[in-house]
Amino acid sequence: MNEVSKSQLPERVDVLIIGAGAAGLMCAATAGQRGRSVLVLDHANKVGKKILMSGGGRCNFTNLYTSAENFYSRNPHFCKSALARYSQWDFIALVEKHGIPYNEKTLGQLFCNNKSKDIVDLLLAECRTAKAQVRTRCTISRVKAAGGGYRVETSMGAVSCESLVVATGGLSIPTMGATGFGYEIASQFGLDIVPTRAALVPFTQHKRQLERQSSLPGASLEVTATCGKGSFHEQMLFTHRGLSGPAVLQVSSHWREGEEVTFDLSPGRDLADWLLQRRQQNPDSHLHSVLAELWSKKLVQFFLLREKIDSRPLKQFDNSELRDMGGRLQNWKLVPSGTEGYRTAEVTLGGVDTEQISSRTMECKTQAGLYFVGEVLDVTGWLGGFNFQWAWASGHAAGEVA
Ligand code: FDA
Repeated sequence: MNEVSKSQLPERVDVLIIGAGAAGLMCAATAGQRGRSVLVLDHANKVGKKILMSGGGRCNFTNLYTSAENFYSRNPHFCKSALARYSQWDFIALVEKHGIPYNEKTLGQLFCNNKSKDIVDLLLAECRTAKAQVRTRCTISRVKAAGGGYRVETSMGAVSCESLVVATGGLSIPTMGATGFGYEIASQFGLDIVPTRAALVPFTQHKRQLERQSSLPGASLEVTATCGKGSFHEQMLFTHRGLSGPAVLQVSSHWREGEEVTFDLSPGRDLADWLLQRRQQNPDSHLHSVLAELWSKKLVQFFLLREKIDSRPLKQFDNSELRDMGGRLQNWKLVPSGTEGYRTAEVTLGGVDTEQISSRTMECKTQAGLYFVGEVLDVTGWLGGFNFQWAWASGHAAGEVA
């Protein structure tokens, strides 16, 4: 078993990796396969906690259509090299090598058929083959440059290494072990941090608004959600605290405090034309029963109330009224009161500035032997398997050279 929590640490290894998450374990397996002695340390009680909870327990481990356009970063070109050298196809081949059954859900998103644990087991098996050791429940107190490498002091003793890889992830879900330790190490060695923010996160709404939509939690519909340059056509879900669902999580990465978000509640259809057509076909039908062809009764009631529209037979609406109604429902605006923050966010925007990191190796340009991989870097993916693909690709890039 290579995941041990109690035994003594070796005094010296070639590669020491802090963080046994997606990027750290991929890096460990890759470096170990090159014959490097590798030790991975994590303060949590088990490895890969975010992998285990990801994708609703079925880990959306990559996306068939991964490209640099699916990532946010101050330098949008930074992720290209690593993603090209370890692509979604490489990770899919690894999943197939381990006989893990998977399926494509939608939009190229690949999920395990069974459990996320299949992916953690895959990574641990790869680490085992590569003779990389993994220790959990290990608190790291200090990192310093020493003897041309690094010395790391921990609750299990001190370890020296030639290469130090920081794979501590982002700030989301602190209860799962997330910390800002990676940013502290970066700052210690003079690297800049791009300001961080919770992303892929539900919106909250003001109390008064929540009271108005108190019958809606659990209701969902297809929308196009737009904020700034971000526009996403997916499901939106009403919750007890506000709004969630893939469309909302995606657009949250573009949202800033106080900004308006626009929702097209009937994407892919000209709603005004559709209502005019329905009036011609069924002039005696009531507006609410016609709209119930698109949305649940609760949602129809809510939208009509919010837009102050009285339901009556369609023949009683003139063209301009139907056009105005269609326009409003396809251009539905609201200002969220905030987001649920790191407590529930899937990822962290910002992080270690890539300006000082080699895009080929993930090594710090100003500090030889120091590497940063995964979400701790200022590279954040869209929802849909992109964040894991970045963890695999960046972990692999560092593992090839560290
Ligand atoms: P990751 O967070 O995986 O690992 C960091 C490790 O460092 C952890 O094990 C942590 O305990 C350890 N650590 C932190 N501080 C430390 C310290 N001070 N000392 C020692 N160890 C320390 N992405 C995706 O592509 N598909 C999906 O389905 C999902 N689903 C999803 C659901 C939920 C609920 C969340 C919160 C996130 C996702 N994600 C996702 C995002 C994905 O989980 C995330 O981007 C990757 O796990 C990032 O991998 P890293 O290895 O960089 O960090």
